[in-house]
Amino acid sequence: MSQTGQHRPAPRRLIVLGSTGSIGVNTLDVVGHLRGTDHELDIVGLAAGRNVPLLIEQAKTFDVKHVAIADASLATQLQSALPGVTVFSGDQAALELVESVEAQELVAAVVGSAGLPATMCAAKRGMTIGLANKETLVAAGSLVTPAIRQHNAKLIPVDSEHSAIFQCLDGQQNQSIKRIVLTASGGPFREATKEQIQNATVKEALNHPTWDMGPKITIDSASMMNKALEIIEAHWLFDLPSDKIDVIIHPQSIVHSFVEFADNSILAQLGPPDMRTPIQYALTYPQRLEGCSRHMDWTELSGLTFEPPDHDRFGALKLAYEVIDAGGTAGAIFNAANEAAVDAFLKEKIRFGQITELVAQALSAITVTPVDSLETAMDADQQARDFVNTAVKKTVLM
Ligand SMILES: NC(=O)c1ccc[n+]([C@@H]2O[C@H](COP(=O)([O-])OP(=O)(O)OC[C@H]3O[C@@H](n4cnc5c(N)ncnc54)[C@H](OP(=O)(O)O)[C@@H]3O)[C@@H](O)[C@H]2O)c1
Repeated sequence: MSQTGQHRPAPRRLIVLGSTGSIGVNTLDVVGHLRGTDHELDIVGLAAGRNVPLLIEQAKTFDVKHVAIADASLATQLQSALPGVTVFSGDQAALELVESVEAQELVAAVVGSAGLPATMCAAKRGMTIGLANKETLVAAGSLVTPAIRQHNAKLIPVDSEHSAIFQCLDGQQNQSIKRIVLTASGGPFREATKEQIQNATVKEALNHPTWDMGPKITIDSASMMNKALEIIEAHWLFDLPSDKIDVIIHPQSIVHSFVEFADNSILAQLGPPDMRTPIQYALTYPQRLEGCSRHMDWTELSGLTFEPPDHDRFGALKLAYEVIDAGGTAGAIFNAANEAAVDAFLKEKIRFGQITELVAQALSAITVTPVDSLETAMDADQQARDFVNTAVKKTVLM
């Protein structure tokens, strides 16, 4: 029975992709927090890349009967620790999990375009998708958003900025939007010179001032590629042209984004920087339940500041607008070139400043074509990775 004396609805069945990552761990925390409420969830599938110890612990804690691991060499170890659990393994493991396990809800929190096939499958199965994996929309928004509509699926943003806009737009007509404004913390190099940014070390780039996140998105935040990816994500989520999407630097990460309407009113969404809030909203939408983040300390509001982004030091933002205007496979090229460049930077094969340079070069060198299938998007993705990896091999660091 619920608090109102009514019978509680049966727990909805949830699959979490990328459960061992920063968003995945926070999602499981929220699922634990929702136990005993009308929004209780039954986790029926978990997918991860390589972190077997954590995946085993999560499967045992939540009594999960299906797990997927991308690194096939770890399948035996996983299976012997989880007898009676179905283990999917290999490149397609997350996709096979979503294809074969009955569930209504999915949290897509794999990092990179590796999450695309499984999320696309969830859309075709008519599931409610809490989307953290922005690379999916950047790489193939023109396939994912029509699939969502066609199969009566739901896409609820988990990214804090997009969750903020989603909340501000609730019940509003799209036509009345003058523009949306994505806030950006500015990352660790907000006040750095162009030269300092060019030569920043991995340690410096991983030192994010406000958010605790996985390594790839932390590097993306430092280069402002994360905001560039979010501009493209917003274009697909809210069906807006590039000239209606703006960015403002807000170092405190308290205002998560805002929407300006035709009558010049502005709605914003605020809260402490804690990803469990947008994750919970995606899982309980349209209801709001007691949250698990800290309360807002209102004295913090007197210190909120806003400043325009510097397009000269951070070239990524301009590229995002070009990608939206180019359409077709430009998003897949942009995203994959960035993934390959970030990987090379984390392995100390290129300088920090080369990430944006390589992405721009890939966009100029690779022909953009219409996206008519997942294969076209994934082909463009591979071409961009090959382009960057070849360029990285030629790089000699002094
Ligand atoms: N972290 C944040 O606060 C935040 C905020 C907004 C949006 N996002 C977005 O959310 C996504 C995840 O970010 P994150 O920070 O949580 O990243 P993360 O900490 O690096 O976690 C990535 C997750 O993806 C898994 N993974 C990698 N490749 C996989 C594959 N081929 N199949 C299945 N799982 C795979 C990883 O598994 P292993 O660890 O086991 O290898 C891990 O569970 C990204 O798209 C990011 O942009 C994150």
